[in-house]
Amino acid sequence: MRIETLTDTIGVSVSDMTRADLLDPALSDDLLDLLEKNGVLVFPDLHLDDPEQIAFSRQFGELEILPIPGAEHPEIFVVSLDPDKALSAEYLKGTFYWHIDGATVDTPNKATILSAHEVSAVGGETEFANTYAAWEALDSDDKTRFGSLRVEHSFATAQGRVHPEPTDEQVRFWNERPSKVQPLAWKHASGRTSLVLGATASHVVGMPLEESDALIEHLQEWVTSSRFTYLHEWQVGDLVIWDNRGTMHRALPYAAESGRLMHRTTIAGEEPFQ
Ligand code: OGA
Ligand code: MN
Repeated sequence: MRIETLTDTIGVSVSDMTRADLLDPALSDDLLDLLEKNGVLVFPDLHLDDPEQIAFSRQFGELEILPIPGAEHPEIFVVSLDPDKALSAEYLKGTFYWHIDGATVDTPNKATILSAHEVSAVGGETEFANTYAAWEALDSDDKTRFGSLRVEHSFATAQGRVHPEPTDEQVRFWNERPSKVQPLAWKHASGRTSLVLGATASHVVGMPLEESDALIEHLQEWVTSSRFTYLHEWQVGDLVIWDNRGTMHRALPYAAESGRLMHRTTIAGEEPFQ
């Protein structure tokens, strides 16, 4: 297999892998290692079908199952802005803002895998930021200053960015999902530290709001600056896996009518925010 780095800080492309290699248990530990070090793995031109994607994904951990009645493959979550294709189309506009999947629960997903079935002619790229690299590049004063801060995250904060003038009913619905306080600097069992930010980040606990807004904005810009990011321009058949513990991601805007269709598998979380 051929491994090429995509940027200085994030992303590698893995090519010349056969389907047999993809499902070879001897390679899966190496791939997980490569993922943890690089944040994102891109497998161009694979064209996996759903059972193949599920089998590939299972090697990295337990898969999340969605309670969709009658679904043939409940491990597959359809990502599309077309409400006829995806149950959550309404909320997927939230993916246009930088985020970490599961930022409002105790233990976020370990990794997420998207396979491109249809791409948008305009927009619809996915952009990734390396939150380990962004932490590591801070100077030591900032690390000391930020190391013990805590940030409240909520679904309502994220949806509020999509709908700046929500109805009372929207707000009531969003607020049914509880908010969660997370560390700004996630200290992993591996010894590495990553920044926890994104569209769900509401405020730094115990900090005056103006100062908190400025700090969140400053750090968000730092993490998502070109120094720590990779933009994936999709081709049909590409498979991309990201380490959800050490990255943030967003989709660049695309139209519901664009046809863009991704099949997603989600590796359940193993390591709580701490
Ligand atoms: C997701 C997500 C981004 C995309 O599935 O969690 O954020 O580009 N997707 O579709
Ligand atoms: Mn996401």
